[in-house]
Amino acid sequence: MMRKPCIAANWKMNKTAAETRAFLNDFIPLVADANNVDIVIAPPFTSLCAAAELLSDSPIHLAAQNLFYEEKGAYTGEIAPYMLTDAGCSHVIIGHSERRHYFKETDEVLNRKTIIAGKHELKVIFCIGESLEEREAGKTFDVLNREICEGLKDVPAAGITVAYEPIWAIGTGKTATTEQAQEAHHYIRERLAALYGAAAGEIRILYGGSVTADNVDALMSCNDVDGALVGGASLKPDIFSRIVKFKAKL
Ligand code: PGA
Repeated sequence: MMRKPCIAANWKMNKTAAETRAFLNDFIPLVADANNVDIVIAPPFTSLCAAAELLSDSPIHLAAQNLFYEEKGAYTGEIAPYMLTDAGCSHVIIGHSERRHYFKETDEVLNRKTIIAGKHELKVIFCIGESLEEREAGKTFDVLNREICEGLKDVPAAGITVAYEPIWAIGTGKTATTEQAQEAHHYIRERLAALYGAAAGEIRILYGGSVTADNVDALMSCNDVDGALVGGASLKPDIFSRIVKFKAKL
């Protein structure tokens, strides 16, 4: 099964609308010849419309970093799925460890978010990953299994991309080794196969956590690594374009 690689930028709480425009004006020409990879960019909500305008003629996909699990109504400060599609998003990141940790988003909440995203035909980058404490206690697979089973319960396989992001590797400069990444991705692939059968073969599994222009080629050489979710190194057009143009698997 050939899965098209996907390289996604998670800008987190960075960049104004003007900074978003400046990034894209530089970045779009840099990746004009990158045809064999899906590129996704997730700016903050306030920059989505600015990004959508500049991406209207581009194959680059626009993602939000979060959404709320209700259709609309009295939920002060929240953003509904239809607002994201209206703003030009085709994708949404759900379950990032920062959402799970700082905003106490539970597996059940993330499951509701994933289900409503699918109803609005938003493709989901669903993030999972263990903490250092969990890894050291030998619980990595248990955590991944729980996050997959509970988060993707009653969610169809179509439109799902999974991102494996070991929490200890996010923003720390500590990347998982290729062996650690491959081992976790292989396990995730098996769990997805148990959940979805043959359809699991089409689900891409991205690696995230201190991906840089220097380590992306090695990570992308792992059999079960289909792409990357990039935080810090996605904020500069030249560096992120180099990541997008990772050295292809032979
Ligand atoms: P990082 O973030 O690349 O800065 O480690 C990745 C992420 O949190 O998605």
